[in-house]
Amino acid sequence: MKRFFLLLLVVMMAWSAATQEIKSAPGEFPPPMRLTAQQDQENMMKQLGITVLRPGPSGNESDPNHANYDEALANPCPQLPELLLTKKGKKVTTPEIWWNERRPEIVEDFEREVYGRLPAGIPEVKWSVKISEREFVGWTPVIAKQLVGRVDNSGYPLISVDIKMVLVVPANVKGPVPVLMMFGRPSLPAPAQPSTEDLEKLNESFKAMMIAHNPEMKEIYDRYPAYTPITRTTGPNPFAPRGEGEPSPTEQLLAAGWGYATIDPNSIQADNGAGLTQGIIGLVNKGQPRKPDDWGALRAWAWGAARGLDYLETDPLVDAAKVGIEGVSRYGKAALVTLAFESRFALGLIGSSGKGGVTLHRRVFGEAVESLTGGEYYWMAGNYMKYGAEKASFGRKTGCDLPVDSHQLLALCAPRLAFISYGIPEKGDAKWLDQQGSWMATIGAGAAYKLLGAKDLGLSNNYMAEIMPPVNTGLLDGQLAWRQHDGGHTDAPNFRHFIPWASKMLKYEKTPAR
Ligand code: GCU
Repeated sequence: MKRFFLLLLVVMMAWSAATQEIKSAPGEFPPPMRLTAQQDQENMMKQLGITVLRPGPSGNESDPNHANYDEALANPCPQLPELLLTKKGKKVTTPEIWWNERRPEIVEDFEREVYGRLPAGIPEVKWSVKISEREFVGWTPVIAKQLVGRVDNSGYPLISVDIKMVLVVPANVKGPVPVLMMFGRPSLPAPAQPSTEDLEKLNESFKAMMIAHNPEMKEIYDRYPAYTPITRTTGPNPFAPRGEGEPSPTEQLLAAGWGYATIDPNSIQADNGAGLTQGIIGLVNKGQPRKPDDWGALRAWAWGAARGLDYLETDPLVDAAKVGIEGVSRYGKAALVTLAFESRFALGLIGSSGKGGVTLHRRVFGEAVESLTGGEYYWMAGNYMKYGAEKASFGRKTGCDLPVDSHQLLALCAPRLAFISYGIPEKGDAKWLDQQGSWMATIGAGAAYKLLGAKDLGLSNNYMAEIMPPVNTGLLDGQLAWRQHDGGHTDAPNFRHFIPWASKMLKYEKTPAR
């Protein structure tokens, strides 16, 4: 008996030592903080000394607090920050002054006050090809690859980030081909199906497995001798007669000899404030909340796109010098941020991006600075919240206090190709997006294109005077381009203008493969 207790004691001691050891391992990595979006936002307000934020306006025009839609009240501070004047007051008259002095100043202001900085020590991403196969998209034979970019999380194993991307390139043209990377849900377009013989083998072994698992199954199989549980999913038939409407944007790209990649923003960073202690932002911060100039979701998505481009640079099917970035709405903002900060992207199609995208922050029309400092604060750097502060240790600030505005963000893309796309409010590309404010920013940005020897919209850069062209009138003769289509909250109707424009500007001509 005594011996038994002694043994028990020894076992218990050993067990407790072991559990202590287990406990101390995660202790090395304190778990990520779990905050609601509101708690996270309040944490940032505290860091910034803000006590009261102005609420954002309502998007519903019948609400008493609805957004302003009166053009006469839309420009409370019509003088935009100077594009071609350094902080010291030097005129930017040469590309050298732009590249060496003015552009870095603008980058710094956007990083600190608007979108946040990329932190030091972001871990490496290792790409692997999960699936690579031949498929058909409509009439076009393609090579489709499913890719995963695994972020090294050895510095904080409690958070993992796997960037999901799919690459599709036409197999009937001579490569390498230009590629448009699109923010969206990646899926293989038409996964190849097994041949009749393979399907037969799959069915045979499936049947045997089911019967081995449950002998009763034999009876059922015997009752339906011709039944095959695994059938071929009918993918798109390349020989089927074409439907009426326009081919999809991706079909149009492939037909023009372009490839496309779809990258999943949510696999990089969640689209909500509660996710800031997770995803790539959370991983780098080891699960702790952001500092005021840390990156927000838009910058994180842009970073992820740049990592996607790292992969494309290694793929011999891709002409990595001709890779574009595309997105609509919040992803239109992300596409612009990507193009502005990542100069290896040669072009961008910026769809219905609104505030935080091409639209001027200073404009008070539709979506407001206060919308982006409210529910969608996590898209931006913490510091951006200052411009929605009603009461704070530093006083009150509005969009008019921002040191930069979106004409300068677009100017960071110069002289590379940027196509600004909108639809019309009647079809659902709401006034909320402020097409006019985006037009003004595009006009203003043109001065940087001209300075760098590229072509802008072909108008002056007087953003208070130039008049927005009618719907369906493209200004597509320059590296900076504009077109408002007559559809809704999408850029799809502009693809048949975007693709020829991009091919021409990049001097790309598709050559059939032999
Ligand atoms: C909201 C938001 C916009 C955003 C849009 C979207 O309307 O205010 O900023 O662009 O959602 O992404 O669908």
